[in-house]
Amino acid sequence: MAVANVSAAAIFVGNIVHYCREGLDAFSGSLVVERGRIISVGRTKNVEEIAQSLNLTKYVVSELKPCQFIMPGLVDCHLHAPQFPNLGLGLDRPLLEWLTAYTFPLEKQYDDITFATNVYDTVVNRTLKNGTTTACYFGSLHLESSVVLAAVAEDRGQRALVGKVSMDIPNDMDYFNKSEKEIDETENFIKLVRDMESDLVEPIITPRFALSCCESTMKKLGELAKKYNCKIQSHISENIGEINAVKEMFPECKTYAEVYDRAGLLMDKTIMAHAVHLEDSEIKLLAKRGVSIAHCPASNTRLMSGLCPVRKLIKNGLKVGLGTDVAGGDSTSILDAIRRCMDVSSHLCLMDGNSENSSVTWTEAFYLATLGGAKALSLDSKIGNFEVGKEFDALIIDPYCQNSTIDNYHCLEEVPSLSPESNEEKIKHLLQKFIYAGSDVNISKIFIKGREILF
Ligand code: GUN
Ligand code: FE
Repeated sequence: MAVANVSAAAIFVGNIVHYCREGLDAFSGSLVVERGRIISVGRTKNVEEIAQSLNLTKYVVSELKPCQFIMPGLVDCHLHAPQFPNLGLGLDRPLLEWLTAYTFPLEKQYDDITFATNVYDTVVNRTLKNGTTTACYFGSLHLESSVVLAAVAEDRGQRALVGKVSMDIPNDMDYFNKSEKEIDETENFIKLVRDMESDLVEPIITPRFALSCCESTMKKLGELAKKYNCKIQSHISENIGEINAVKEMFPECKTYAEVYDRAGLLMDKTIMAHAVHLEDSEIKLLAKRGVSIAHCPASNTRLMSGLCPVRKLIKNGLKVGLGTDVAGGDSTSILDAIRRCMDVSSHLCLMDGNSENSSVTWTEAFYLATLGGAKALSLDSKIGNFEVGKEFDALIIDPYCQNSTIDNYHCLEEVPSLSPESNEEKIKHLLQKFIYAGSDVNISKIFIKGREILF
């Protein structure tokens, strides 16, 4: 069994950093977890005092090293599990060509359950190693292998939203279902995943995008979402060629967003990936409906889709999280997405100097990767930070561990103007180092709902 269960309470003592209502909170103290939930968090480090005040009789103490810190787990709001074998391939083509030449031929293979099981084992392990404690996955068109993906995530202890991709419009690769089969299988998929009674994995309705589903099917998927109180995910306004094709296919709609709105797919539990080229009226509509955006900077750059004005989306009240969008994105890591998000917003800012597009700061990007992602997936009552009552999804980070890409220049401490004055500043320095220069090597422990993930 790869997942260690925590039956006794666990008391973590050391540096803690998370994003709370007031902003980035970094302090030295303690965090107590019982049955997967955070029951106390604060600045006291006296273990006996903590145990006494919480009436704990049985507990395990984990003391972090002075240069380590604990942070919330990373949330990947958008990735395609079946596309992982294509990582790094074919990224010199624009979206629609890339889908036909690389993506659909690979995804078609997932009618083979053994193939699917092998790939999905690797995918879940890879994302877990990167510190992705929550993943919002697209599966493939296939019912059985999408259930396998849900089962692998559950088995491995990863929190996940898993979607069976819906497509019922013919394409060159013959990768689609008949409409009736599509609706039946989506409903079946919801039931099968719910039957798993998992406390970590939930099904999500997943029309691929407007170009792969006919209007009546999108409407029926919207009805299923209401019937089963299920979340929805799709793609929107990623690439100019795609947007033009959508407008051609739905001439009665003025915008891409209107297509989804007419189908009843836009609601406060809908996550739309990309949103690179939204018109102002679309941003307003999505904000009004409470839709979230999965910002996928790596993929938007690699497929030359465009530079997403993420600052503008946030300013207009949209909930935003980060997505790797493998295999349009070339990295499986949300830590990488944090950096790409900062880069893209800096490039936009450099290009037009308009304050509307001011750069996303490293603390904001950290927020997007944790609490922002949790909000985007409507999971913020459970995860995203270390509020008491939430479930304990966390990473212990060791910036200066062996084989780290971050070197420890102890001599820096002798430069007074660069030495952190307070403990809070010291912890923020450690987090900054990890964000800008770290890698998965720096993640020494991973917890999901209090259970340590072992490899
Ligand atoms: N739009 C429709 N399908 C896809 C996909 O698989 N990846 C990306 N990036 N965009 C899409
Ligand atoms: Fe995608």
